[in-house]
Amino acid sequence: MQKQIFIVGNWKMNLSFQEGINLVSGINNFLVASYKKHSDNLQTPKILACPPSVYIAKIVDVLRRDYDYNYKDDYDLLHIGAQDCHYEKCGAYTGDVSADMLAEIGAKYVIIGHSERRQYHAETNGIIRKKALAAKQAGLIPIICVGETLQQYQANQTEIVLQQQVKQSLPPEFCKDDFILAYEPVWAIGTGKIPQVEEISATHKFLAKQIPAGSAILYGGSVKPDNACDILALQDVHGVLVGGASLKVDSFNGIISAAVDVLRNCGE
Ligand code: PGA
Repeated sequence: MQKQIFIVGNWKMNLSFQEGINLVSGINNFLVASYKKHSDNLQTPKILACPPSVYIAKIVDVLRRDYDYNYKDDYDLLHIGAQDCHYEKCGAYTGDVSADMLAEIGAKYVIIGHSERRQYHAETNGIIRKKALAAKQAGLIPIICVGETLQQYQANQTEIVLQQQVKQSLPPEFCKDDFILAYEPVWAIGTGKIPQVEEISATHKFLAKQIPAGSAILYGGSVKPDNACDILALQDVHGVLVGGASLKVDSFNGIISAAVDVLRNCGE
């Protein structure tokens, strides 16, 4: 059986609304064209964009209008996720957005515990676990992020840090289809530095042992079209979480092409 590959764009707090709409159309038009070209391809990567939450409702409207969002067709187009949610369903939490609200406007996934949330919003593993549970209860798939800092990496503490983050932020009752794990070394995010592919491979193998068998594990941190193929071809890597390179049609579509190639090569 071929592996599933996820390509997830994390826009962070970037792009004007109109730029976001143009990006979404540019990705979807590329997907329609490339899936028609490779109609023999048995499996296609699953593509997600995670825009700022204020854009989601309108983007979903555009996808429904122009591409029949729900995608009951024979190929799968762009899916939409959010970048964070609150762990409560509703209440006095000024400025926050609940998982139910995101689901109601058409999001299907939500990134939880990104290192920027951990750093700038003091999110702990315990908070992240509650958010992941709230996401599942709302019918969303949480993409739970873990990763070591440069200092921890240099002190050879990567595995111990990841083990603890996974243990404390993944709800113990979760099965493999309830979540996606994203391994993002903090020192690789937005820096252009990435671990050696052998290191990524070893770390993903290690992470696979900490979570239910068959769960998807993404790599994130400075993924670009020219390194995506080598990373996606690794056995325990089931996709990539992309920041900077997800903001431009050409670079994001370049990463999608790498995933299509990897799946075609696996299938041959
Ligand atoms: P980057 O960001 O691709 O710009 O390194 C990745 C992320 O933060 O998810």
